[in-house]
Amino acid sequence: MKVAMIGTGYVGLVSAACFSEFGINVTCVDRIDEKIRGLIEGHIPIYEPGLDALVENNTRSGRLTFTTDLKDAVSKADIVMLAVGTPSRRGDGHADLSYVWAAAEEVAESINNYTVIVTKSTVPVGTGEKISQIIKRMRPDANFDVVSNPEFLREGSAIDDFLRPDRVVVGLDSDRAKELMSALYRPLFIRETPIIFTDTKTAELIKYAANTFLATKISFINEIANLCEVLGANIQDVAKGIGLDGRIGEKFLNAGPGFGGSCFPKDTRALVRIAEDNNTPSHIVNAVVKVNEDRKAQMSGRIVAACDGSIDGKSIAVLGVTFKPNTDDIRESPSLDIIRDLVVRGANVKVYDPEGMEEAKSIIDDVTWCSTAYEAMVDANVVTIITEWNEFRALDLKRIKLLLKEPILVDFRNIYRPEEMSEEGFYYYSIGRPDVLPKTEK
Ligand code: UDX
Repeated sequence: MKVAMIGTGYVGLVSAACFSEFGINVTCVDRIDEKIRGLIEGHIPIYEPGLDALVENNTRSGRLTFTTDLKDAVSKADIVMLAVGTPSRRGDGHADLSYVWAAAEEVAESINNYTVIVTKSTVPVGTGEKISQIIKRMRPDANFDVVSNPEFLREGSAIDDFLRPDRVVVGLDSDRAKELMSALYRPLFIRETPIIFTDTKTAELIKYAANTFLATKISFINEIANLCEVLGANIQDVAKGIGLDGRIGEKFLNAGPGFGGSCFPKDTRALVRIAEDNNTPSHIVNAVVKVNEDRKAQMSGRIVAACDGSIDGKSIAVLGVTFKPNTDDIRESPSLDIIRDLVVRGANVKVYDPEGMEEAKSIIDDVTWCSTAYEAMVDANVVTIITEWNEFRALDLKRIKLLLKEPILVDFRNIYRPEEMSEEGFYYYSIGRPDVLPKTEK
């Protein structure tokens, strides 16, 4: 079996490498020549733990190849996967499907034998049907089926999520396509991974419903965290107390500065639009989006409050720019809004992130980029942790106190414990838990 993967971003490259790990021949196609040349030379354009080794092993075995020649790859493929970007359309939140339509037209021109065209990218409900119409119009002679096979990969754990998924979702309406997709996922069949076969529209909606429900859990716990702060309750105990209920589940109940990334923000906005376009507005998802947007703006206000109401001319150390740890992706990261607001309020901002700074330098100005967390904290009036990178979990608190002008730490990810920080003599502010003063001031 041969697969052509169109698009070599987070979804395409990880999916291609994992399918080749299953023993399948995969040809990755991208229109950017230098990207393909880099991949052939073993340069991985994204930071994803374990991806470089997986690509290298399968490239060496000959199962994984790279090309800019879409026509050749598609003409030889049994399955063509569309893993191109579907960003939020500027201004209105609809998914921008221009890359999908362009890829579908190129694929239509290149189909030879019976081919299954799979949408891997997150696409609005009904997109599979439209792709089918495009191909039929361009190639009435073509023998093909369109399938929806959404991915549920989290950046930073994408390979594990792919090789050990909770489930595989396949939307199709032909037995021949089902045979081919079953063969593609046979290695997971063997592991008895649940594979849900349904129709295309339902599979497309499952993807949006999954992401928006996860985002709903996050906005919900963030609102409860606000309540904890005014009531003097502890959000981590609330999350544990509700999460142990099997009907709720413990995951995605970590209160923080709001969700970012290339998926939740765009998929929640897109679902709002899809619901509106179909005259069934989603009040819940509308609220999830608003809670998240408002929250990001609120966060810098907490840093100002920790500095007695003014940060003009003050030095602020910011730890974390990526939208989550173990990735270099900064798309819609809460850090971006927070840093911009701190700069506007007159602060001297010093930033450190293990992986995201290169990307961030192209969109954030007027800050100082540091090569370590401690460098950022030299003579700072306050240090704030926005992304929960592991290296921020065991900072040398005694060393930090000597570096900082004032022992103020604003922890947006509840990495540290209030009691511990009080013992160490910090003014410690976190999410959904009581603020603490240095023990000496008790
Ligand atoms: C998400 C989905 O999890 C994945 O299934 C889908 O395929 C793509 O989108 P991803 O965006 O890579 O994956 O990261 P995820 O781990 O889901 O985190 C998304 C955002 O939510 C991050 O900003 C993270 O900090 C935030 N988050 C996550 C919380 O604030 N609290 C949580 O408990 C979990």
